[in-house]
Amino acid sequence: MACQVDFKGEKVVSVEGGQTLLQASLAAGIPHYHACGGKGQCTTCRVLVVEGQEKLTPPTSYERAIRNVKKFPDIVRLACQSYVTGEGVEVRRLIRDETDRYIFIDSQEDSTMTVMGERRKLALFFIDIRSFTPFIEANLPFDVIHIMRRIFGLFRNAIALYQGEIIDTSGDGLYAVFGLNSRIKKATESAVLAGLKILEDIKIFNNTYMRPYFNHTFEVGIGVHVGNVIVGNVGIGISNNLTVMGFPVNIAARLQAATKELDNSFVISAIAYRLLRNPPYAVGCNYLNLKGVSNAYEVKLIGKPYEVKQGKEGLG
Ligand code: FES
Repeated sequence: MACQVDFKGEKVVSVEGGQTLLQASLAAGIPHYHACGGKGQCTTCRVLVVEGQEKLTPPTSYERAIRNVKKFPDIVRLACQSYVTGEGVEVRRLIRDETDRYIFIDSQEDSTMTVMGERRKLALFFIDIRSFTPFIEANLPFDVIHIMRRIFGLFRNAIALYQGEIIDTSGDGLYAVFGLNSRIKKATESAVLAGLKILEDIKIFNNTYMRPYFNHTFEVGIGVHVGNVIVGNVGIGISNNLTVMGFPVNIAARLQAATKELDNSFVISAIAYRLLRNPPYAVGCNYLNLKGVSNAYEVKLIGKPYEVKQGKEGLG
């Protein structure tokens, strides 16, 4: 039996039995944002229950988990997790503005339950070239581009060899993921093998090419971590490239940056390290304080100390 729910300031919506508040509001043409596709894994569909809280089904386990983290009061409900059991419900959507409407509703598949990303556990891999700024300063621009292409070619080949996917490049570094088509243990192993191969390839490249032809050598910093991230085209760029986002990505990036202060070319989180079947030798056990992470973060150093010592800010 259908119940009427008043979406305050918008319209009165008829909610069928078995239909969530979100499904009903979308069916009625309300541009109700739902970033996770109604899976109870975001907060964008939340509503304030103005009246009739007792006429909604109790919060689901997903909803309880989010409410615990976000400390939402009881009168805030996730529309995708709420069913209506009787008349008299009045709600107000909490996330609603014209930009949301344009980006997420009007310009996409209208009122469908489209998910803009998928939650996946991946191995996250960041790499950066050290000492690149002095090289740029001392060499001609076309030489710099030539060398850059050679080095990125090494990165690309190693990452492809172990089925990784490059997500983004920026300046003298890049970001890749492993595990889009494999399980996390295999993915972590692949990320580590790709990193170790790059370290080896750079050494050869230095000896056979950079030293004799350019009187310069390069070193790199690599950070690897694992975690749950959102994968997909989340509509934040101008292209349709794959995007991978989530807090673990930030951690992996910080591990890469920490290679300088830890004076080791390859830093992997202990969580990722423990997933390895044949872990490489790690130099001791280190703890890092990472911005946004309350406890010190345990990491393993599986690379080599830098030949050119890196300041905390590094040499670029
Ligand atoms: S749409 Fe993500 S929690 Fe409801």
